[in-house]
Amino acid sequence: MNLKDKFIDYFKSNGHIQIPSAPLIPENDPSVLFNTAGMQPLIPYLLGKKHPEGTRLCDYQKCVRLTDLEEIGDKTHHTFFEMLGNWSLGDYFKKESIEYSFEFLTKVLNIPVDRLAVTVFEGNDDIPRDEVAATIWRELGIPEERIAYLGLEDNFWIAGDTGPCGGDTEIFYFRSDEDIPKVFDPKDDRWVEIWNNVFMEYRKNADGTIEELEQKNVDTGMGLERVVAVLENVDDNYKTSIWKEIIEAIESVSKKTYNENEVSMRIIADHIRTAVFISADYAGIKPSNTDQGYILRRLIRRAIRHGKKLGIDTNTNWTLPIALEVIAKYEDYYSEIKDNKEIVLDVLKNESIKFNRTLEKGLKEFDKLISHIDNSIIDKENAFRLYDTYGFPIELTEEMAQEKGLTVDIQGFYEKFKAHQELSRTASAGKFKGGLASSGEMETKYHTATHLLNAALKVVVDKNVHQKGSNITEERMRFDFSCDHKLTDEEKKQVEELVNKWIQEDLPVTMETMNKNDAVNSGAEAMFIEKYADIVNVYSIGDVSKEICGGPHVEHTGVLGVFRIKKEEASSAGVRRIKAVLE
Ligand code: SER
Repeated sequence: MNLKDKFIDYFKSNGHIQIPSAPLIPENDPSVLFNTAGMQPLIPYLLGKKHPEGTRLCDYQKCVRLTDLEEIGDKTHHTFFEMLGNWSLGDYFKKESIEYSFEFLTKVLNIPVDRLAVTVFEGNDDIPRDEVAATIWRELGIPEERIAYLGLEDNFWIAGDTGPCGGDTEIFYFRSDEDIPKVFDPKDDRWVEIWNNVFMEYRKNADGTIEELEQKNVDTGMGLERVVAVLENVDDNYKTSIWKEIIEAIESVSKKTYNENEVSMRIIADHIRTAVFISADYAGIKPSNTDQGYILRRLIRRAIRHGKKLGIDTNTNWTLPIALEVIAKYEDYYSEIKDNKEIVLDVLKNESIKFNRTLEKGLKEFDKLISHIDNSIIDKENAFRLYDTYGFPIELTEEMAQEKGLTVDIQGFYEKFKAHQELSRTASAGKFKGGLASSGEMETKYHTATHLLNAALKVVVDKNVHQKGSNITEERMRFDFSCDHKLTDEEKKQVEELVNKWIQEDLPVTMETMNKNDAVNSGAEAMFIEKYADIVNVYSIGDVSKEICGGPHVEHTGVLGVFRIKKEEASSAGVRRIKAVLE
């Protein structure tokens, strides 16, 4: 049995209910692109909301973290990973939590106690040193010299800046054939962290204050990839059974060996796996130039470039056997992988075809460019040309530059990029078409349509309606909003009519850049104010809508066509969802 199944089995036999992994693309939180931790979908329940499955839960949760994107290529980082977790929502606390972890590690996985060490929270002015946890560990047989007391930095856990939080105890494994030192030194990197048990008994508020939660919770997280590597006794995660067939497929396609091409093969393996998961998500993400779509595009294009580095003929459908291995590995665990297999394969194929049209020429341009360069900086004109004409995501140009010891004028690139976006707003009126930006034409229209819909709902349904999320593809828009009832047919009709009236009035769309506070004070609608930068763009549509938004938007509403609501349904408690199209 693999680790995932063993973990779930163990916690189920101890009274936990297995909950399904939440979608990778959060359904109602536009402030984050991807789910990044096992506990993220459980935040409301950690804060006290009743979970329908009870007070003891366990799962394996899909996560994507982009902070590590630059590190991919080394032995231990991944953009996509799975996190095993068990939770007590006001049920058991420190004692059982530690006992479960200890029993699972030593009895189910048969890890010798001598290879384990732990850290516990040393406390601060507000919160006492966690003697309770330390005592439980001692009683289980972890000697005092294998317990380290660490501060806020290491042994206190919170997702982001606010929300449920608490001290934690982390479990370490000695991964080395050398003699195990008697005394545990958390700075000695032969000790690797394998499990984190957080005792969530506080809530941090936006003003920095910490209050005690009525409900004392446990939130544990174990990174699957890392623990499998530990159990299989390898120090390179990509050499575990998780990656075996995927790496073999890359070796076979490239006719090269992993050992001589580790970096490119790891990047290809990691990026294709993540691309499979992003494009399989029921949110229907396609490669594009914004949000999750842009990440998907970047991952696929970076993988293609590394495929080329390995000498693969990237004009063939070379990613297919690799993606099929990923699918085979996960389809029994995640229904979207099975359901959307064909979609995933199409996304990979189509994006490869698109990029391959310009890749070869772009690489030649790049080589030419760097052979003439007279300082060590790729200027903004060239960086933008590689992006606009050859489809090189700026991060790819940056990576290629780095390999040659060069840098890129990134700021200059973004200035040009912004200026170009202004231009493509004109473009969406149908006057200009070209480069990558044009593929966003329909999306741009849908962006503007969401603002109109948001404004119309406030007029027709309730002025307190707020946007809870949105998702845009070239074919449709999806809009989630706070509302306590199913819209009546009359309400839907009125909303549709009002949006179409504003489209017909051909209202001007204007943009102002201003300080965030000024924007809010001026009455601009903001979804998650604390997540915005200090300087924001505020888009106004005539005098019917004013929202803080990153854009892009059309220049005037007349180009949007006819707005039609296709579906109105529940999304989650207190949140409704509208699917709509522009015809
Ligand atoms: N929230 C903790 C973590 O992500 C434990 O699940 O490490």
